[in-house]
Amino acid sequence: MIIDKLDSPVEGSLMPTPGGRFYTDPQIFALEQEHIFEKTWNCAVRSADIAEAGSWKVVQVGREQLIVSRNRRGEVRAFYNVCRHRGMRVCTQESGSGRTFQCGYHAWTYDLDGKLVAAPNLTRMPDVDRDQYGLRAVAVREWLGYVWVCLADEPPSFTETVLGEVVTRLGDVHHLDNYRIEELALGHRINYDVAANWKLIIENFQECYHCATIHPELTNVLPEFAEGWASQAFVNHGAEFGEGIDGFTVDGAAGVGTLPTIAPDQDRRYYAITIRPNVFVNMVPDHVIMMRMVPVSAERTIVECDWLFVPEVVESGTDVSASVELFDRVNRQDFDACEKTQPSMSSAVYADGGVLVPAEHHIGIFHDWVRDKIGSGPSADG
Ligand code: FES
Ligand code: FE
Repeated sequence: MIIDKLDSPVEGSLMPTPGGRFYTDPQIFALEQEHIFEKTWNCAVRSADIAEAGSWKVVQVGREQLIVSRNRRGEVRAFYNVCRHRGMRVCTQESGSGRTFQCGYHAWTYDLDGKLVAAPNLTRMPDVDRDQYGLRAVAVREWLGYVWVCLADEPPSFTETVLGEVVTRLGDVHHLDNYRIEELALGHRINYDVAANWKLIIENFQECYHCATIHPELTNVLPEFAEGWASQAFVNHGAEFGEGIDGFTVDGAAGVGTLPTIAPDQDRRYYAITIRPNVFVNMVPDHVIMMRMVPVSAERTIVECDWLFVPEVVESGTDVSASVELFDRVNRQDFDACEKTQPSMSSAVYADGGVLVPAEHHIGIFHDWVRDKIGSGPSADG
């Protein structure tokens, strides 16, 4: 079994990666959807995208489509987008707003808390329990200005899993709190459609061995990245701006000021964390870049990227294009590398995998995590 290669003892500089099938096999992808994306907390929707009561957005989580919405009390809700009558998609647009959700097939109508409130002839069917036949809800909570959802019947502890990821990487959650991400406003958003397995994108994000080769603008701003050591390999390490660099912008010119609440040792530094399974958070002195991945298939992933600034910057129409351009270029460089790697995952040459150099060994923790989650599923042996 391919994944068991990771049990091999590490000797010397090189550590094995999983074989190519790990990145191409639809059965492994299905196991990941079932045991990772449908069991853990996923960052699903930016809260401000459903700011008003009755507004909603449709998102994909694992193999399911969800409606993420806000009720009259301003609370977020998430439901399977499956009509309880005969299964039609209740919301057929990407987003919208209204006082109820009405299915377009036979007009079963649900309120903003998911309860069945109307249907043709419903009053002549008094035995129908309107809660039981309401939209099926999933667990939700808001954090960092985003709605997080979990499909599991018994969701894992948000504190232990999601916040635990932050603690592992940054040492504590306060470091992240300083950026007050939930108070920031959306300055720019780009959705990338990447022809690569989601794990290649996570692996790429976790190492900087490639930075000197493909990221000239980034290594200009963060010279230590040219050394190839990723800040994610060390707890609470922020990469320092180079001399003469005034901001996290495409040419190193000044950005848009400094977030008022960050600590002095967070100034002039870039921090990045991965919150498994689908979030990257990039923190720089004047903005935060939130990225969330939606795996579509074993070989395709949508990456939604938000650039967040203090509201005054966004409201005043301040030009943030130099900030956006830096990480947009980094993203395109990274995704291009992932897309040029994906086809080789099917090559006979890569059947037994490749290798990680010491600067990449920490990626093995991610491989172990995936393997542990999808574990001994029968189709992983296939
Ligand atoms: Fe939705 Fe019939 S399937 S009302
Ligand atoms: Fe990169």
